Amino acid sequence: MNLEALLSARLAPAFAQVAQATVDPAVRRSRHADFQSGAALPLAGPLGRSPRDIAAHVLAAADLAGIATAEISGPGFLNLRLTDEVIAAGANDLAADARLGVPRTTRPERIVVDYSSPNIAKELTVGHLRSTVIGDAVARLLEWLGHDVVRANHLGDWGTAFGMLIEHLGGGHAGEITDLTAFYQAARARFDADEDFRTRSRLRVVALQGGDEDTLRQWRHFVAASQRYLLAVYDRLGVTLGARDFVGESFYNDKLASVVAELAAQGLLRESEGALCAFPPGFTGRGGDPLPLIVRKSDGGFGYAATDLAALRYRTGDLGATRLLYVVGAPQRTHFAMVYAVAAAAGWLPAGVRAEHVGFGSILGTDGKMFRTRSGEPVKLAAVLDEAVARAAALAPSAEVARAVGTGAVKYADLSGDRMSDSVFDWDRMLALTGNTGPYLQYAYARTRGILRKAPTAPGPIRIIAPAERALALELLGFARVVTGLEESLELHRLAGYLHGLAQTFSAFFEACPVLKAPAGIRESRLGLCELTGRTLRQGLGLLGIETPERL
Ligand code: ARG
Repeated sequence: MNLEALLSARLAPAFAQVAQATVDPAVRRSRHADFQSGAALPLAGPLGRSPRDIAAHVLAAADLAGIATAEISGPGFLNLRLTDEVIAAGANDLAADARLGVPRTTRPERIVVDYSSPNIAKELTVGHLRSTVIGDAVARLLEWLGHDVVRANHLGDWGTAFGMLIEHLGGGHAGEITDLTAFYQAARARFDADEDFRTRSRLRVVALQGGDEDTLRQWRHFVAASQRYLLAVYDRLGVTLGARDFVGESFYNDKLASVVAELAAQGLLRESEGALCAFPPGFTGRGGDPLPLIVRKSDGGFGYAATDLAALRYRTGDLGATRLLYVVGAPQRTHFAMVYAVAAAAGWLPAGVRAEHVGFGSILGTDGKMFRTRSGEPVKLAAVLDEAVARAAALAPSAEVARAVGTGAVKYADLSGDRMSDSVFDWDRMLALTGNTGPYLQYAYARTRGILRKAPTAPGPIRIIAPAERALALELLGFARVVTGLEESLELHRLAGYLHGLAQTFSAFFEACPVLKAPAGIRESRLGLCELTGRTLRQGLGLLGIETPERL
């Protein structure tokens, strides 16, 4: 049972009677009572009466069953406090519900989540962490809500860099490269220093794009080696991206010409300095000039934007997706806005189909600058995970738990802040056992499990006799509202914040209310609260992609 819905159902008929119109009672959780309705305030103008007067009439007309106290406060808010019986009944409903009160969507959509999407032949750095971790949580969440989620790892596997990489390999086998980053850097250094190498690299790109069999074979080895490496990292990170989710830029290669042709036929392209460009209205550069989206470069090659247009057309047209999510850093915001505008003009984003940029800020070091190694290099993701697990060993009883705690801490630190803000990479903070951290939540979960292991009896029906029990039950009943709210906003930090609040409320309950030492009857009720708290923490952290070890 959703308590907001219950209270809305009580108040709505009374509001309708007083206002002579349908009114949303706008019931929200409140610090001043359990819930509050502010719906009387905006009615004051239209009705020509004071909000307090309206609120008083609503209370007089409403069926207040299940409401212990209802008071008018301040300018005309309705402060509502539920009876303990209603809260206990709600908690028992949750205990019996595998979905913890969260309904499956009644309007399932096919949703493409484009995430991780690194440029391959380079090693993953912490820069890719955010897209991977945020995108994976978004995919898990939408899937759990009942949507048909298509994960899309839009690998950069078709750039000009492959010319230089294949030349540098010089006939060797890419599968034997042990350090892709070092290999890439060596190729890059040669490219910068050696004119002859540069020329050969460029010819290789032409050969690759022209479909030369030998070049393609070598390119395939590179892609395969990169994919193997990526899958190993995803596995370590506990990310749900698999081999079948790799749909790289190369996949769209044979669709680019028709994208350009379709756009041209609709009069959406213009030549500018030898390149074919779209100029979607409303996008201007620094000097106020229209900003181009380059669809075909002056050398005849297709670039990043053309591939994104082809991918979008494929996702809505061929896959039939009605929601497209692009989990990519904030600097690409304008790129995507322009791609969507051009796609909409071309008819590839019909009414009811949405494309959204799920942006995020950068990862900074504790000095407030971009997070880098001491020598100024981007930090490798694998090195971060190694260190996280090593540091977590101090908190964990086994290597397996250290892995869950270390990677969980890194992921949680990334997910618990507003994603549009920059996130500060701070080892001590992310691994702290107190505060809004992964380890704190995992510890709270393990504590619920520890109590249940020691209990001589099974959890029983929840009854409310102490204020701390009441507060915990009320908090547990808020899970559904938070999760449901994420479907549109994708503000994962709200779920993290909720779970942190739940863990704190649980901790206060545990201090105020003995569980194992409580008399029979009360003990089973409190065990019921422990069990429900554990399940909620586990489900919530699971949606964020964070494991919950049974012991810590
Ligand atoms: N490979 C790109 C990069 O590393 C990100 C790709 C994001 N997805 C997309 N459809 N453009 O910047």
